Formats: sequence, structure tokens, C-alpha cells
Amino acid sequence: MSWWQEAVIYQVYPRSFQDTDGDGIGDLEGIRRRLPYLKSLGVGALWLSPFYRSPMRDFGYDVADYCQVDPTFGTLEDFDRLLREAHALGLKVLLDLVPNHTSDQHPWFLESRSSRENPKRDWYIWRDPAPQGGPPNNWQSFFGGPAWTLDEGTGQYYLHLFLPEQPDLNWQNPEVREAIQEVMRFWLKRGVDGFRVDVLWLLAKDPLFRDEPGSPHWRPGLPDRARHEHPFTEDQPETYAYVREMRQVLDAFSEPGRERVMVGEIYLPLSRLVRYYRAGCHLPFNFSLITEGLPDWRPENLARLVEAYEGLLTRWDWPNWVLGNHDQPRLASRLGEAQARVAATLLFTLRGTPTWYYGDELALPGVEIPPERVQDPALRRQRDRAPTPLLPLGRDPSRTPMPWDASPRAGFSTAEPWLPLNPDWPTRNVAAQEQDPRSMLQLVRRLIALRKEPELLHGAYRTYRAAGGVYAYLRGEGWLVALNLTDRAQALDLPRKGRVVLSTHLDREEGVGETLALRPDEGAVVRLG
Ligand code: GLC
Repeated sequence: MSWWQEAVIYQVYPRSFQDTDGDGIGDLEGIRRRLPYLKSLGVGALWLSPFYRSPMRDFGYDVADYCQVDPTFGTLEDFDRLLREAHALGLKVLLDLVPNHTSDQHPWFLESRSSRENPKRDWYIWRDPAPQGGPPNNWQSFFGGPAWTLDEGTGQYYLHLFLPEQPDLNWQNPEVREAIQEVMRFWLKRGVDGFRVDVLWLLAKDPLFRDEPGSPHWRPGLPDRARHEHPFTEDQPETYAYVREMRQVLDAFSEPGRERVMVGEIYLPLSRLVRYYRAGCHLPFNFSLITEGLPDWRPENLARLVEAYEGLLTRWDWPNWVLGNHDQPRLASRLGEAQARVAATLLFTLRGTPTWYYGDELALPGVEIPPERVQDPALRRQRDRAPTPLLPLGRDPSRTPMPWDASPRAGFSTAEPWLPLNPDWPTRNVAAQEQDPRSMLQLVRRLIALRKEPELLHGAYRTYRAAGGVYAYLRGEGWLVALNLTDRAQALDLPRKGRVVLSTHLDREEGVGETLALRPDEGAVVRLG
């Protein structure tokens, strides 16, 4: 097995992990100082959300220089030191590559917009206005409004699937592809272990720029992007060739035992998602638990999802699972802490690489953000346009600072943090949960350690029972995971006697006979005799 199959990937949102220079915003030096914590959790790899030079209109997903660290986060030297120390601890480091768009302040775009004749004009997607005036077609931005903005100076529109300050690069242009591959080489030479690639499924656009058809699910109040189906702006056939090229860059830097990997951000139905394996993406993010599992938290539904996914994978495809990230509501807010513990048990005992979002190990809740402190550009833009934006509270609630201890500002910063802390930070913080033998933090640590058992790493998955509020499955020959998804006691007949090795309540390790009694909200991992 390769490191990226055995490792748990831990996502750090650099703005919110640890501030060391007293500006209320986290930095690379802060992440470096917290490496021992990450090591003690048992994770094998860190994915760092963007820290490149950026005007921060989309908090770093608008890159103005792919090869520089933004001063908010530190310097290249800080990064090199962080990487060196992470490696010394046996932690891999994945960077967030944002190849679909740049900042409108990137020198490439400044050149591109300077005149129609500029050699970089074709690095972005420029079109004439429609014959009757207005945007070239009906494509809508994810963050609300048309995906086109008119550049007065040159009289043409440029495409941006996100903010107008995030113009889309033209991936049809081989120079663009080469430029992004150069960026990859820059970081690979410095030693990074791979990339999480931002919006990988959006890189290619319909070469004919056809209007997208109306969606039957649209109703007034939904975000603009939901007006249409997206046969011309998502998952275009050209994308696979682009992925293949990126994979070649990674392979050129890989050695046995030291593979450089590509994790792809792809929101697509599973049947289309798995094609990205064929194109060479090591781990196309499987968001099905987020999109379909958490909203319908029943055994029948979870078993259906897991079986559907497992059924689509070939023996060369390695599964992966995700419960949260910086764009999604917090796990604990979706399920409550008791079931969040059950969900963690699921994530770490399914077959495949789990990705874990910082703070979820404390059952951090989504934090209510007062209107005057809202930062998320997606929410600010959509608030004015749609009564029901994609995420009604925006993404800030899931991006609040990591509470480390009970000292002022939770040990995160010496200044007022850029987003408020969770109100219960004096008790819900890392130090407090380190002291509490039954905390969520201890549970996550135990689960990550348990996952290193060979059969939990690569034993086959088989559904054992998915009914009556209990979801149970076998891993390999010797393990059974039983999850009580209800707040009522349940019982499960076991195939044979065994031993409860771990309970989400962290209060029992004991032999079991033919029947396993599950308390309300209890998940148990059983070693079968
Ligand atoms: C991805 C990121 C998100 C960002 C968007 C535009 O979906 O995860 O945070 O806003 O891309 O780059």
C-alpha cells in the first residue's frame, strides 16, 4: 500500500489554525508550531488551503502569484521550514492548487486585459457581447449573477465561474497548461507531496459556448447558478486530458514509496466521478457522505451509498471519504455531537482514505456570525440576489479559529480573530479535550490509531445489516462495525462472539456474546473471535 492510501488527510485552513504574528489571522509559522499536535492525532498528511499571494477576495482562492507566500501567512522560508519539520515528523504535505482561475490582480490577467492584441489575451476566456448586447451567453456564476463581466477598456466580456475578481484561465491554450504545470514543478521541487486541485471538474468549457438549458428544479429564490443544468460548464471531455497531463508532472517527481499525488475537488454524481480515476487522479474527492449521507442519516441510505460507490470502483481505484471542508456546514451542526461521533467512526472504518477537517475532532459547531462580521464573499454576493443562497449562512461558520486552550482568545491569537471563536471555547478547546478521557478528540485519536489494523486498512467491505436504526458492516474477516444511528437502545445479533475494542462512548472494552447491545447514539468496533 502507498502512503496516501494508509494516511488520514487533515485539512488545515491556514487563516484559522494558529496566529503567531498577532494580526488575528493564522499563519504558516503557526501551523509549524502545531505540528506536534497533528502528529499526536495520528494523521499522515496535511492539506493546506491556499496561502499564496492574494488580494483575499475569496480568501486565497484568488491567486495573484502562485509561487509566493502572501505576507499575511509569512514567507517562502517559513514554508520551507514548515515542510522540513513536517517531513521530519513523517507528515506529508499537500498544497491547494487553484488552476481554474487566478485573481484579477495576477500579472497574467493584467496583461490579458490590457489589449486585444496582448500575447496573454488568449490566456483567459474573452468573448464579444451577444449580438443584441449583454453577456455572450447565459452561463451563471457559482457566487451569483452572470459568469461574464464586461471589460470596458477592450469591449469584450471575460468569463468567471466564481467572483468577477476570479477570471477563468483558458485551459484550451497549451501555454496556460504549461504555466500551471510549471507552478506544480516549482512546489514539487521544494518537496511537497502533491496537490488538492481546486474545482478540477470545471477546467474545460464548451468550445462552442452554448447556452445551458433551464433546470426543471429551478424555483424563484434559488441561487442563479441553479437556474440551469450544466452540460457546457462542468465535466467536459477535455478535462480528462488535462488531468492526465498533470498526472505526468506528478509522476516525473515520484519514486517508489514517495508518490506525489493528486486529490481532486469534484462535485459530480458517483458514476461520473469515478472517470477521474481513469484519467489519473489518485483521489477524486468522494463527497457523497456530505451531499447524500448527512442529509438522510439512515442505515438504509448509508448502506446504499457505500455499496454504490464500492460497486463503481475497479481494483485499481482506491476509495476515499469526506465529512466536511471549508465550504460545507460543520459536521457537529449537521448531526449533533453524539451522532458526529458515530459519523467519525464510520469515516475511519470504511475502506479508503479519509479526509478530516480541522476542528471537527472537537465537535466544533458552526458558529453564528453577526451580520456585520460576515466575511464570505459568496454569501455577501448572494445575500443581495437570492433569498435562499446555496448555503444560507455562508461558509464563515465553518471557518472559525481553532480553540487551543482556555487562555485569552483561546490561544489562537493575541488580537481579535478575523472571525469569532465558538462561544463555548472556554470549555470546548484542545487542552480541555486532552484532559477529558471521553472527549471527541480522544475518540478521533483512537479511531485513527485503530484504522492502522491491516484489515481495517484494506479488508473488503460487506454490509452486515442496514435496518432498524442500525448500520453494521464487516471489514475483512475479523472486524465488525456497528453504528446505532438513533437515540434509542438497539441490539444486533453478531455472526460470532467477539470483543468490543472501541465504543464511541469510550467507556467499554469487553467481550461480547452472540448479541451486541448498543446504547443510544453508540457506535462500536468489534473484533470478531
Ligand atoms: C473551491 C473552493 C472554494 C472556492 C472555490 C473557488 O470550491 O473549495 O472555497 O471558493 O473553489 O475557488
